[in-house]
Amino acid sequence: MRRALLVNAEYKIQLLDRVADLGPSIEQNSPAMAKGPTGKSLTAAETPPYVLVRIEYAALNFRDYIIGSGRYGAPPHDYVAGNEGAGVVLDSTAPDFRPGDAVFVNGHGLGEKRPGTMSGQVRLPPEAVIHLPDAMTTLQAATVGVAALVTFAADRVFGPGPVAVTGAMGGTGRVAAACFARAGRDVTALTRDPARATPLTELGIGTILPPPTETERTAEGFGPESYAAAVDVTGDMLNWLTRQMRTGGVIALAGFAATNRPDLSALAVILRNLRLIGVNSGLAPSDKAQALHWVAATLHPGDYPLLAHPADPQDIAPLMRDFAGARGRGRIVVTLQ
Ligand SMILES: NC(=O)c1ccc[n+]([C@@H]2O[C@H](COP(=O)([O-])OP(=O)(O)OC[C@H]3O[C@@H](n4cnc5c(N)ncnc54)[C@H](OP(=O)(O)O)[C@@H]3O)[C@@H](O)[C@H]2O)c1
Repeated sequence: MRRALLVNAEYKIQLLDRVADLGPSIEQNSPAMAKGPTGKSLTAAETPPYVLVRIEYAALNFRDYIIGSGRYGAPPHDYVAGNEGAGVVLDSTAPDFRPGDAVFVNGHGLGEKRPGTMSGQVRLPPEAVIHLPDAMTTLQAATVGVAALVTFAADRVFGPGPVAVTGAMGGTGRVAAACFARAGRDVTALTRDPARATPLTELGIGTILPPPTETERTAEGFGPESYAAAVDVTGDMLNWLTRQMRTGGVIALAGFAATNRPDLSALAVILRNLRLIGVNSGLAPSDKAQALHWVAATLHPGDYPLLAHPADPQDIAPLMRDFAGARGRGRIVVTLQ
């Protein structure tokens, strides 16, 4: 079996025959890692519990682009991308996990401080590993991934009523829009090119609109009270969104694909008693498990292919570079098995 690794900011791909060929950086992912603070090897009893997971599907998201492109400083040497993925447990010293268990992993420094899921095998503390619901395959889990966690976090704080989702053809926006639509909400999806948004229609999304124009975005006047809730992954539609929200509405900020310095109408926030909250995928393990159950019960089996952009390891370099152009491809899911 061959593995694909992203090793530098240019997404130069190195195909290696074995995980062991990764050298020292993979030590963290090897069962034999256990070393104490002085460098002395730990006995089995002293070693903190771990779960070793063989990744079947790695998901690549905007975070991988940010880290790999050096926007937060140079990526570490031997950088291996993949902040999330799904697979099966190979080995575990944690009582809740057994070889063969199907699991989802994300965060905990994956693809950042430790080699990511593109290494094909990750060794993590048990709190970083989430059992899949019986009704969810590893491919489906990687397909929805952190976008499912963010959507669930938003859903928990939303009241009833119509929802707007920006960046709806992107990875996060598409999952959020699909989950809310399948949960029976009236969803408006905003996407730069509604003409190519057939997947959104097939996912049951009622209204698909182009983003507001520059004039509409920067205007001062209030629009109709259209939305009770919104998920914004772009950052640059906040001013417009605040002026279209129902009184008491909630806007969940999930991303900043267009800008990290959003404009907003303070007057609309004040007069319409809006709440702006941040949502992210760093949920407690029990909440992540609940999120996956919610998504498994909400989406239809035929929805998952509409959410994913499937890729082989050799396709990764251009796909990662495309994050800069934000092409609206859905979630990038790389088959490793
Ligand atoms: N909070 C979290 O835990 C979490 C988890 C996942 C992602 N995120 C964040 O969410 C954001 C999106 O991530 P992603 O993985 O979904 O990225 P993505 O697949 O590239 O999607 C981003 C989408 O945003 C829209 N967009 C981007 N630039 C735009 C611009 N200049 N003007 C208007 N629309 C623009 C596009 O939507 P259309 O193609 O529909 O126009 C694009 O497809 C990122 O900031 C990421 O860090 C956060």
